[in-house]
Amino acid sequence: MADLRFDGKVAVVTGAGHGLGRAHALLLAERGAKVVVNDLGGALDGTGASAGPADEVVEVITKNGGEAVANADNVATPEGAEGIVRAALDAFGRIDIVVNNAGILRDKSFGKMSVEDFDAVLAVHVRGSYLVSRAAFPHMKEQAYGRVVNTSSPAGLFGNFGQANYATAKMGLVGLTKTIGIEGARANIKANAIAPVAWTRMTESLLPAEFESKLTPERVSALVAFLAHESCPVSGEVFSVGGGRVARVFVAEGPGWRKEDLTVEDIRDNWDSIMAEQPYLTPVALGEQANASLRAML
Ligand code: NAI
Repeated sequence: MADLRFDGKVAVVTGAGHGLGRAHALLLAERGAKVVVNDLGGALDGTGASAGPADEVVEVITKNGGEAVANADNVATPEGAEGIVRAALDAFGRIDIVVNNAGILRDKSFGKMSVEDFDAVLAVHVRGSYLVSRAAFPHMKEQAYGRVVNTSSPAGLFGNFGQANYATAKMGLVGLTKTIGIEGARANIKANAIAPVAWTRMTESLLPAEFESKLTPERVSALVAFLAHESCPVSGEVFSVGGGRVARVFVAEGPGWRKEDLTVEDIRDNWDSIMAEQPYLTPVALGEQANASLRAML
C-alpha cells in the first residue's frame, strides 16, 4: 500500500517549537503538508514568550524541502487563536488539520494549588484547544473536511498526584474531542485525542534517564499523523501512545444493577454487582448511554 501523504493539506500544530509538537510538525511537513508552526515560546510554566522556537522549527522544515510558516500567538486568547488560523489561510489558503498540542505545567498538591495556577493550566490546554478548533471549524465545515487531534494525558485519564489542574484540563479535552467529533461528523470533520508519553522538557526530570532514547517524541507523532490523515477511520476516540506502543483508551460503563425504589441499603448489599465491569458498554454518545439506562427499565 502507498505511504500516507498530506500533499495539498494545510496543518496547524500548536506548541510546535519544542518536544512533541515539533516532532508532529516535522513529520507532517515531511509527508507533504504545509504547516503553521505555532509556539508562544515561553517557559514550562507558561511565563515569558519568544519567537525563537517556532522560527527554528520552520528553518528545519524549509531546509528539508518542506513548507512552513512560524507563528508566535498565544492559543489561550481568542485573538491569538484567530491569528493562528489566519496565518494558515494567509500563507496557504486553507486549513485542514489542527493539532492542539500546546501545553504548560504548574504542578502543586491539591491543598497548595493557587486559583491562578489552576486557571493558567486550564487556559492553555482546554481554552486553547477550544479556541483554535473554534477558529478553524467554520473553514472545515465550509470545505466539508477537517481533522482535529487533541492532546490529553494519562494524568487526566487516570489521575495523578500534584496535577489537579492538569488532570482536569486533560480529561476536559476528552469531552471536547468527543463533542467536536459528534458535531463535525456531517461535514467529515473528525476529532480524536492522544494521551502520550515522551521524553521532553516537560518530563525529563520525571522519567528515568534510560527512557530518553526509547520515549522519543517521534514515536508519538506517527499516531498523530495517522489521526490527521484523510483515511483516519475513527472519530471521538482516545489513544494511549508512547515508545512505539499504541492502545485505545475508552470510557466504559459496566452492566449495572437495578431495582425500582432503590434504597441506600440496596446499594450497600449489591455493591459487587454495581462495581462489576463485564460485560461493559462503550457508548459513543450520550444518547447511546441513556438508551442503555432506559432499556434496563423495560
Ligand atoms: P513542551 O514543553 O516541550 O512543549 C509544549 C509547547 O507548548 C512549548 O513549546 C511551549 O512553548 C508551547 N506553549 C505553551 N503555552 C503556549 C501557548 N499559550 N500558546 C502557544 N504555545 C504554547 O512539552 P511536550 O511534552 O512536548 O508537551 C506537548 C503536549 O503533550 C502538551 O499538551 C502536554 O501536556 C502533552 N503531554 C506530554 C506528555 C509527555 O510525556 N511529554 C505526557 C502527556 C501529555
